[in-house]
Amino acid sequence: MDSIIVRGNGPLKGQIPIAGAKNACLALMPATLLSEEPLTLTNAPRLSDIRTMTELLASLGAEVTALQEGKVLAASCHGEINPVADYDIVRKMRASNLVLGPLLARLGHAVVSLPGGCAIGARPMDIHVDALSALGAQIELRDGYLHAKTQGGLKGAVHEMRFASVGATENFLMAASLAKGTSVLKNAAREPEIVDLADCLRAMGAQIEGDGTGTIEIQGVDRLHGATHPVVADRIELGTYMLAPAICGGEVECLGGRIELIESFCERLDAAGVSVEQTKAGIKVSRKNGRIRAVDVVTEPFPGFPTDLQAQMMALLCTAEGTSVLEEKIFENRFMHAPELLRMGANIEVHGGHATVHGVDKLRGARVMATDLRASVSLILAGLAAEGETMVSRVYHLDRGYERVEDKLSAVGAHIERVKGE
Ligand code: EPZ
Repeated sequence: MDSIIVRGNGPLKGQIPIAGAKNACLALMPATLLSEEPLTLTNAPRLSDIRTMTELLASLGAEVTALQEGKVLAASCHGEINPVADYDIVRKMRASNLVLGPLLARLGHAVVSLPGGCAIGARPMDIHVDALSALGAQIELRDGYLHAKTQGGLKGAVHEMRFASVGATENFLMAASLAKGTSVLKNAAREPEIVDLADCLRAMGAQIEGDGTGTIEIQGVDRLHGATHPVVADRIELGTYMLAPAICGGEVECLGGRIELIESFCERLDAAGVSVEQTKAGIKVSRKNGRIRAVDVVTEPFPGFPTDLQAQMMALLCTAEGTSVLEEKIFENRFMHAPELLRMGANIEVHGGHATVHGVDKLRGARVMATDLRASVSLILAGLAAEGETMVSRVYHLDRGYERVEDKLSAVGAHIERVKGE
């Protein structure tokens, strides 16, 4: 298992290119199951999660070919389709559950393994099951698999979700696109990745309105055709790299970034004393004068503060002036980066869904361990400004969601290198 070594090295300067969004691409790829015609995704990120989704789709009979070193994904699903998404692949990546809606829409039946829990929480699928059942699917849990089928195909319906689940919204959108009649999804997730999926489905001939708001209306169509679609910029990678100059000082421009993708995050950065400027090329970030100020953070569904940036924001607040309180309202166990930051000299108290961070002057490098995707990158960020050397082990977590993090950060002056593991 590889490790990454980071040494505090002062202010950063330069540009960091932002890749296509992992969480958009993982919803766009299963859309190929909805049509016999090819779906081409451009601006795709080169990540291990994308390779895992490719493996899953291949097991179902869909082909995904990575072109241009993986920046273009050419997908098609025109042959025999296997309706079973096997536990061995699904357990590696929860987003595998996004094949459930498309399989039901295309075939009328599906057998999809429950993903099982992961480090940040139990992550059940009840909201997905309720939403697809509203469209006429009969779904039962047997031997750890969801067995889903429809009598005579999916039928449009009005459904209100108990919580604005991102994945359940995506499964519903893809299923309802081919259902008979009109569907309305209420309390829908509003994330930019939902809008990106709706844009792609419209390019394939779907009739969808209201995506990006809490109420989405879909007119089912008989069939969807092929399309070419550019993956939206990754707002979580963007926010992550915006924190690098905030933590170390200097000035970095994140190419391809747009403030409207992460407005609530940018508002918190501004309150903490970080200057955020939209330029033609992206977002330019630097510290205002003086020390970072403590701010409170509450994670919420979009347009609230993204839970996927909570760990990274905590890394910034460890050396802020004053005390910050971070409330994690989306996942039940998403503070696993806190004990690792404590090893670096941070002063953090975790009680249930709240973490109280008392700012210290400096962090000190230490050996730390990555536990989940976003926690691992928060340790890298903390190491950028810490005194001495930080070694982050188990960086396979990191490679799931960040393309070549050591290249992107060393290009702006960070002392960071990957050590190949056994
Ligand atoms: C998506 O996960 C993202 N993943 C997550 O990013 C992100 O943290 C999450 O949305 C919230 O923004 C992808 O898009 C691939 P949810 P998803 O359904 O769809 C509970 C990362 O780091 N819930 O909105 O699984 C669930 O347990 C990853 O890139 C149910 O109870 O998120 C969680 O507490 C991590 N029942 C909350 O809702 C359900 O049926 C949010 O889940 C579904 C969800």
